[in-house]
Amino acid sequence: MWSLLRRRRNPSGFSPSSTAEEVTAGIDGSGLVAIVTGASSGIGAETCRVLALRGVHVVMGVRNPSAGACVREEIVKQVPAAKIEVLELDLSSLSSVRRFVDNFNALNLPLNILINNAGVAFAPFTLSEDGIELQFATNHLGHFLLTDLLLEKIKVTAKENGIEGRVVIVSSDSYKHPYGEGIRFDKINDRSGYNSIYAYGQSKLANILHSNELSNRLKEQDEKVTVNSLHPGAVVTNIARHWGFIQGILSTVGKFVVKGVEQGAATVCYLALHPQVAGVTGNYFVDCNAVELKSHANDKDLAKRLWDFSVSLIH
Ligand SMILES: NC(=O)c1ccc[n+]([C@@H]2O[C@H](COP(=O)([O-])OP(=O)(O)OC[C@H]3O[C@@H](n4cnc5c(N)ncnc54)[C@H](OP(=O)(O)O)[C@@H]3O)[C@@H](O)[C@H]2O)c1
Repeated sequence: MWSLLRRRRNPSGFSPSSTAEEVTAGIDGSGLVAIVTGASSGIGAETCRVLALRGVHVVMGVRNPSAGACVREEIVKQVPAAKIEVLELDLSSLSSVRRFVDNFNALNLPLNILINNAGVAFAPFTLSEDGIELQFATNHLGHFLLTDLLLEKIKVTAKENGIEGRVVIVSSDSYKHPYGEGIRFDKINDRSGYNSIYAYGQSKLANILHSNELSNRLKEQDEKVTVNSLHPGAVVTNIARHWGFIQGILSTVGKFVVKGVEQGAATVCYLALHPQVAGVTGNYFVDCNAVELKSHANDKDLAKRLWDFSVSLIH
């Protein structure tokens, strides 16, 4: 029954069991350049592999360069023609994000696609080196700064080569479970009242609010750059590493009922490459299908407030 449901196709023609290879079959990505964050494992590593398979020049942003080099080596074994680089990027550190962008700019490449995928989940209370709660710092703020620093290059590339730029933000349906007020602006770095599940939900809600607000701003500026967010599904990866018990279940019994990375990367690669979503912006996708957002994620004022708050934190 479960596997039948997973094969039921939605309006895009794809289903929860479609793989990233299937949803990009026949698409020629040569001539495009993409940055993928969190590329050293899970959904990010599979996304890099499939983009490289489609001819995209991939720049992997990884916080552990030797793990990144191993993933790169595996990809090159499977795709000998792959154009793929590894650059160090720790999203919990604003100075690391700035260094990554300097190093990327030194490569003198254009930029068509930015995939904000890296994430940490359910971490115990920790402050980043910038004094910001770790899940908010890594999942939202580091990506907010990264996007801000790369946006001009994405806009210029889109203008120069006439192909729309795409920003793809990997969120999670956990956005439905943040703190009561959505984003705890006044207590973002407070240990008191910290709840690792709500803090993850808050950071994933922030991903969607960022996506929606950026999409609106780019539309107002008439830029040829789309921005969409997504839930990859429940996927067997290392994401539950801070929850040893759940991680154990996921990688044993779980792998028979949840997605593998081949399926987990499908919506990411679909939004990055598929012609069906040309011009589509400001939407949230699940299983390659745009779905309605709930509660705080629809709050335009909250999105604007988060934008201003994030700008104040990165300066
Ligand atoms: N798996 C799921 O069921 C699921 C469900 C909903 C949403 N998601 C989202 O999917 C995305 C990818 O996660 P995944 O499932 O593929 O998990 P994963 O295998 O744990 O991958 C997460 C990636 O993010 C990287 N990362 C963590 N902290 C970082 C930092 N400070 N700077 C740079 N990179 C960092 C990790 O690098 P290291 O290996 O060095 O730690 C890893 O490469 C996340 O945004 C997650 O929230 C996953």
